[in-house]
Amino acid sequence: MIRDDILTLLNNTEDFLSGQEISEKLGVSRTAIWKHINSLKNMGYDIESVNNKGYRLLSSPDLLTADVIKSYLKTGFIKDICYYPKTDSTNIRAKALSAEGKPSGTLVIAEEQTAGKGRRGRVWISPPKESIYMSLLLKPDIDVLNASMLTLIAAMAITKAIKELFPKNKDCCIKWPNDVVVGGKKICGILTEMTTEADYIKDVVIGIGINANTKHFDTEISDIATSLYLSYGTNVNRAELVAIVMHHLGRYYEIYLKTQDMSGLLDEYNSMLVNINREIMIIENNKEWHAKAMGINDRGALIVETSDGTRKEIISGEVSVRGIYGYV
Ligand code: BTN
Repeated sequence: MIRDDILTLLNNTEDFLSGQEISEKLGVSRTAIWKHINSLKNMGYDIESVNNKGYRLLSSPDLLTADVIKSYLKTGFIKDICYYPKTDSTNIRAKALSAEGKPSGTLVIAEEQTAGKGRRGRVWISPPKESIYMSLLLKPDIDVLNASMLTLIAAMAITKAIKELFPKNKDCCIKWPNDVVVGGKKICGILTEMTTEADYIKDVVIGIGINANTKHFDTEISDIATSLYLSYGTNVNRAELVAIVMHHLGRYYEIYLKTQDMSGLLDEYNSMLVNINREIMIIENNKEWHAKAMGINDRGALIVETSDGTRKEIISGEVSVRGIYGYV
């Protein structure tokens, strides 16, 4: 769409871009450009127009609509974006859209969820606009047993994107298997759900909730949860963050698909792991024991070493892992 293309050009240009340049690049008349710029202004984009200089984008509306996200996207991985001002859960929507025939690479995104789902049947509180609630629909031709690793690559993509947006702050890490943490507190949750038929995968939905511009958490969770705003002291451009996450997810997904495991991503994942080489507490069937985290293996299992030097494999879903002094 011409409007999206204009936005992409403006987003990628610091200075003014003349009507002539835009019209040459997109092959449409200057009058058409002018009309599209006016409709963008009506949508809430602040675009400066100066005679003999052209147009400059000053700010975008803080919305996660398809138009806005597309203007930041630098990947062909995302095939479609379905936006809801309010929905029950983007995971539920993504599964329904999959059944209606939406392709792999469809991104479902909402400003607010009324029935946001967390792991282990918990509720994911999803108030309007301040955070990011999205689900990526994938239809991979992979073995069912390999699908759980998709959650690990999503955690990698989110960590990488946050590091890219806040390069001076180095403390964004992964708490195995897939919580993204900043300063020891959880900033993001991932819920991956799969639909299978016999032993074939119909679809995988990777649901991602990122605490972006949340200004306040209730006391019960403020010890373990934080937001990008609370950690870095500035509002984040949510659409840009979504686009960067999807860019990296697409890259990691491609690498993962070659082997259907973590072998091509092992070193990078381990470099993001918060508790690597640290003592952690493993909670298994109500029993707790301590060991040193050594990093993950090709299957995404966490390798730990006990005090007598024995190495063990910890499988996600069966145990829970904590730092010995707190959440990480
Ligand atoms: C967790 O418990 O850590 C996982 C939380 C996952 C929340 C996200 S928000 C977008 C997507 N839709 C949902 O209903 N849940 C996931």
